[in-house]
Amino acid sequence: MGTRAIQQAVIIGAGTMGHGIAQIVAMSGCRVVLCDLRQEFIDKGLSLIRKNLEKGVARGKVDKDVCRETLLRLAGSVDAATAMATADLVVEAVPEDRDLKLRVLSEMGRHAGAHALLATNTSSLPLSGLASALPDPSRFIGLHFFNPPHIMRLVEIVVARETSPETVERATQLVARLGKDAIVVRDVPGFATSRLGLAIGLEAMRMLEEGVASAAHIDRAMELGYNHPMGPLKLSDLVGLDVRLGISRTLARELDPVRFAPPEILLRMVREGRLGKKTGEGFYRWTGDGPEPLE
Ligand SMILES: NC(=O)c1ccc[n+]([C@@H]2O[C@H](COP(=O)([O-])OP(=O)(O)OC[C@H]3O[C@@H](n4cnc5c(N)ncnc54)[C@H](O)[C@@H]3O)[C@@H](O)[C@H]2O)c1
Repeated sequence: MGTRAIQQAVIIGAGTMGHGIAQIVAMSGCRVVLCDLRQEFIDKGLSLIRKNLEKGVARGKVDKDVCRETLLRLAGSVDAATAMATADLVVEAVPEDRDLKLRVLSEMGRHAGAHALLATNTSSLPLSGLASALPDPSRFIGLHFFNPPHIMRLVEIVVARETSPETVERATQLVARLGKDAIVVRDVPGFATSRLGLAIGLEAMRMLEEGVASAAHIDRAMELGYNHPMGPLKLSDLVGLDVRLGISRTLARELDPVRFAPPEILLRMVREGRLGKKTGEGFYRWTGDGPEPLE
């Protein structure tokens, strides 16, 4: 595998994460093709990037020339196969569905050049299970970006058993070039971020169940006592309680059935359709003005 600098990238999936990843890769000087199933999804992604950049210029955070040049480096296509043929980097950001990711990765393996770095933005799926879709999994790595990618500083680099040291090095250099901070994590369920975040979130739910304190006070404990920008229950509402439950079940199955078992309160709230911000109620009531305590 060659180690030429990354000049062209393809991002597959123009949704919440894909368009943000395309933005920061283009800002770093790469030409980027943003791919999705339909042109309207691509157009929406590209227009969100334009809005992000223009907001950045208005706030004095993004230089006017950087904004203009970044937009010139971005293109969209529904033909990912052709776009991948000349790419040095391909990142998939399609929904968290193992079979879908296997199909997309198999296309990446078939169409991307032999030198290309192949990455997944999965937030929970084991890479070892996905790597089987690729003819050369030594070039495969996890680049776990956070939402929104143009604001959040962390990228979790997930290293599968099959990933070569050279691929880890290229990914580390890429993350530095994007202006982000990396952590390097072995391919274990929940990586570092989801596992730690969930452990605190589940404990906070158990404390609420036991009547230790109100949701607002449990959150305030971490916000004011530990300088977390947001307490664990508010954060769970923001992520979505159904999403948290899914990760809890995965980690209970894969890591520890007691530590990561979903608390009764979480199961009940998901059953009742109280999923957090997206349904207007979870541990808080979510209105246009933000979260309000229920008590
Ligand atoms: N949303 C988050 O906060 C977040 C944070 C970190 C990581 N992730 C991970 O990022 C990935 C994407 O999540 P998202 O929230 O951006 O999803 P999303 O649903 O917002 O976007 C996914 C996009 O992929 C497109 N797509 C589906 N199948 C495709 C295909 N075969 N080819 C091309 N495009 C296809 C969809 O049309 C959609 O536009 C998931 O693996 C998720 O776990 C999400």
